[in-house]
Amino acid sequence: MPLVSMRQLLDEAAKGGYGVGAFNVNDMEQIQAIMMAAKQTKSPVIVQASRGARQFAEDLYLFKLIQAAAELNPDIPIAMHQDHGNSFDTCKSAIALGYTSVMMDGSLKEDGKTPSTFEENVEVTRKVVDYAHERGVTVEGEIGVLGGVEDGHGAGGSGLDHITDPDQAVEFAERTGVDALAIAIGTSHGAYKFTKKPDGSVLKMDILIAIHKRLPNTHLVMHGSSSVPKDLQDVINKYGGKLKETWGVPVEEIQLGIRNGVRKVNVDTDNRLAITGAIRKVFWETPEKFDPRDYLKPAREAMAKVVAERMTEFGQAGHAGDYSPIAITEIAKGYKDGTLSTQPLVAAK
Ligand code: G3H
Ligand code: 13P
Ligand code: ZN
Repeated sequence: MPLVSMRQLLDEAAKGGYGVGAFNVNDMEQIQAIMMAAKQTKSPVIVQASRGARQFAEDLYLFKLIQAAAELNPDIPIAMHQDHGNSFDTCKSAIALGYTSVMMDGSLKEDGKTPSTFEENVEVTRKVVDYAHERGVTVEGEIGVLGGVEDGHGAGGSGLDHITDPDQAVEFAERTGVDALAIAIGTSHGAYKFTKKPDGSVLKMDILIAIHKRLPNTHLVMHGSSSVPKDLQDVINKYGGKLKETWGVPVEEIQLGIRNGVRKVNVDTDNRLAITGAIRKVFWETPEKFDPRDYLKPAREAMAKVVAERMTEFGQAGHAGDYSPIAITEIAKGYKDGTLSTQPLVAAK
């Protein structure tokens, strides 16, 4: 199956009332792990690469690996997405490679650190939307700022510093025409999100629900959605790791989000934890081993297990065969003739 438009994938998820995990990749083993899980659970899937991933793996290697995944798995819809694009040029280069979706994260300035103004965010996001839609490519925007810093990307600080304002979310969706809207509800990237199981004082599900009420047809995106399960932390620490006690986003909160308009759920850290734990275990138990396959295979399996669990929990499992891909050129026509709406339905307060 060719790579599919993320807009099509999310529209289908909305019809089916489920969420779709968007899993970060940097190498072949992570791509294979996602495809193993997608095949096992019959799930459509979003594969995403950050700027750091594109640099680490080199654009062409990474994109050819994704193409291989699509060729080897003709029954699975795969959208290839640029995660946290920091500028028009980053998004443009992803589109040139063949990514079917880009995130223009205009919540931060181009340095990926400094929060931008609302007007700056609208302007750069609108520019990406115009360019991408002409080419049939989906756009995710972000309003509000996540906490934490990952690989230099992020404003730092707490996830509570820049929670999304529902009125601004409405105006942003109207003025940009984005296909998917990432909102900040108190989560952060990385393993250290919360110092105890999050309650309503730190994870603002009420804000998410308020935004969904105002924008009932908009596909919402939850970033920083790793659950950081204790069992994955324990494996790392058992085999010589030094993770401090931490909590992530409970799966039941993500499921509440999915019942309230969340269609894309970003997960990276849980997979990083699974991979690291599996590799540490091999190193610890059999220090005489030195063939990378001896630790990369269990690492790949550990990641596939986490991804398959999330696919089932988010509800995308079993939906791979629900639809056939619409060619990206047809998607472009749809944006042009208005059959693919870019104006959100806005409900009164
Ligand atoms: O946005 C955060 C993702 O976990 C990607 O992280 O920028 O370290 O590749 P990265
Ligand atoms: P986590 O760090 O919680 O996995 O978040 C990943 C993410 O939001 C990627 O954009
Ligand atoms: Zn993110």
